[in-house]
Amino acid sequence: MAQKIAQNLGVSLANVEITRFSDGECRVWVKEDVRGLNTFVIQSLSKVADENLVELSLLGWALKNLGAKTVTAIIPWLGYSKQDKEFRKGEAISIQLVAKFIEAAGFDKVITCELHSQRILDFFKIPLVDLSTKKVLGEELSFNKNMVVVCPDEGGRNRSEDFAREFNLPILYIKKKRDLKSGKVKVLKGPKVFGKEVVIFDDIINTGGTIAQEAKALKKSGAKRIIVLAVHPVFSGKAASILDNSPVDEAIVSDTILLPKEKFFPKLKIVSVAPLLAGCIKKE
Ligand code: R5P
Repeated sequence: MAQKIAQNLGVSLANVEITRFSDGECRVWVKEDVRGLNTFVIQSLSKVADENLVELSLLGWALKNLGAKTVTAIIPWLGYSKQDKEFRKGEAISIQLVAKFIEAAGFDKVITCELHSQRILDFFKIPLVDLSTKKVLGEELSFNKNMVVVCPDEGGRNRSEDFAREFNLPILYIKKKRDLKSGKVKVLKGPKVFGKEVVIFDDIINTGGTIAQEAKALKKSGAKRIIVLAVHPVFSGKAASILDNSPVDEAIVSDTILLPKEKFFPKLKIVSVAPLLAGCIKKE
């Protein structure tokens, strides 16, 4: 991602060495004179999120100590944002602490793509820019009068409605339930979509459970075609094969998370958000 963004901006990447001590601890070394410069650290908090968070933060810390004028964290996928509230009493609100951690590392600003929920904005004291990816992903569709957006869950209502408005598409809703212990998803109520080309616009595909269960229900209700647009392909565990074996006809994701080749499957298409991020950096 960093290379793609640099290419888009016509600049080269800074000379940085990231190694590990023999005990596994991260060690970063910025070998550049950044005094007085606006600097950007690009790092998704994807697997292993804990390691990437520390790596990102150490880079920010080093840049601040070198006298950079500003240090901005470009975090295409803001890991830990799934836990943005206390689902059960006593749970840590992970993203709340991660926000504090990023701030403590000296960052002046964070730029991310398609936040999981707007409540995350409240956890950051520094500016957090949330870039919408609806156009980047939506422009991959071949629009037709049979197309309908289906909102995958209550949490995604605003995102789906915004997407449907942008592309002038009708919208229908699914009611789903997730078992907090097993993580299993159940469709409680699905819409009638006979003969329709269904588009689901979601922020994350993690286990693939939501999309697989919903695609099954939608196909049962007569959907002709199911296209899933998901911004962050977390693809944990067997998600890739679950999606490949699901009734989904096409899955379009972005490159906020670098997918290893073994997670590719024929129905999958990856589009880049690098131009979107580069455009945002240009404006800084
Ligand atoms: C839910 O709030 C999110 O928007 C996604 O629908 C969810 O995180 C997907 O998770 P999974 O792929 O594990 O069902």
